[in-house]
Amino acid sequence: MKEKLEALKNEALAKLQEVTDPQILNDLRVKYLGKKGELTEVLRGMGSLSAEERPVIGQVANLVRSAIEEIIGAKQEVFQQQETLNRLQAEKVDVTLPGRQLQQGGIHPLTRVVQEIEDIFIGMGYRVAEGPEVETDYYNFEALNLPKNHPARDMQDSFYLTEDLLMRTQTSPVQIRTMQAMNGEAPVKIICPGKVFRRDDDDATHSFQFHQIEGLVIGRNIRMSDLKGTLLQFVKEMFGANTGIRLRPSFFPFTEPSVEVDVSCFKCGGDGCRLCKQSGWLEILGAGMVHPNVLEMGGYDPAEFSGFAFGMGVERIAMLKYGIDDIRHFYSNDMSFVKQFKGV
Ligand code: DAH
Repeated sequence: MKEKLEALKNEALAKLQEVTDPQILNDLRVKYLGKKGELTEVLRGMGSLSAEERPVIGQVANLVRSAIEEIIGAKQEVFQQQETLNRLQAEKVDVTLPGRQLQQGGIHPLTRVVQEIEDIFIGMGYRVAEGPEVETDYYNFEALNLPKNHPARDMQDSFYLTEDLLMRTQTSPVQIRTMQAMNGEAPVKIICPGKVFRRDDDDATHSFQFHQIEGLVIGRNIRMSDLKGTLLQFVKEMFGANTGIRLRPSFFPFTEPSVEVDVSCFKCGGDGCRLCKQSGWLEILGAGMVHPNVLEMGGYDPAEFSGFAFGMGVERIAMLKYGIDDIRHFYSNDMSFVKQFKGV
């Protein structure tokens, strides 16, 4: 029996010595030391031994067991170290690599211009009003003194949704909505930025969707000189203290008299350049004294109240201010375009 144990030990040690794989090591552990392993198998024969032999063989068996356990333990340690090493190698982080740069967003140039204009008018005591982009024919046209079949409706090609609903062609309907909501109270001083829509073929200066900012002031004794002073103050803050304005007679159904307002070219100072097409002036908005019919539609008695209104295109102002040559840049989501306005 002693020989059997010795043979078992030799075989086990030889095999374990060669093991290079943790899985096989475990298999061998079970094979030799497990409950149904070979050592247990040999020891099962101990019952047939004499009382003297038993402790001797018992001692041998213990030595065999601890010899096998020892080599298994040593091997396990080597494998574990190897695994730790492999992990460290695989999960190595090069802390000297430059970090990935975070993309930082910026405010879109149109938003920027709207905010700038809002700030200027808020500084003059105006509040910002809003209205729906889907508008009724009544607010978009009729209440603005543009009855059905009025030829001036052709000035703005419209997207109709139903006979009575359309995408608003201008921000002017907010004038009426605001007046009606004010219930005849004065003064009214609002600006209204927003999207407008027209049936246009897109090109460098036209877009089927663009932005306007509307302005409306209603009160007692509001005169054309108030309009002029307000717009002059606006352009000085927007384009520089040396800019001036020029009013030219024009026509809008909702104002009487109506004017087209030019700002002196802020690029050449009025001398004439490519931006102003050598004229020294840039057209930036339409304006006028609120038509008595419009005051009435809004719930204000034209005998007691008067007012002025103006409307400007945001894209046009942004294009002039930043020297942008194509309106489509605003909507093409081209990062190289948008990025230029991050720090403006
Ligand atoms: N709504 C006009 C347009 O889209 C712009 C405009 C002109 C607005 C004169 C006004 C105004 O309030 O008084 O062409």
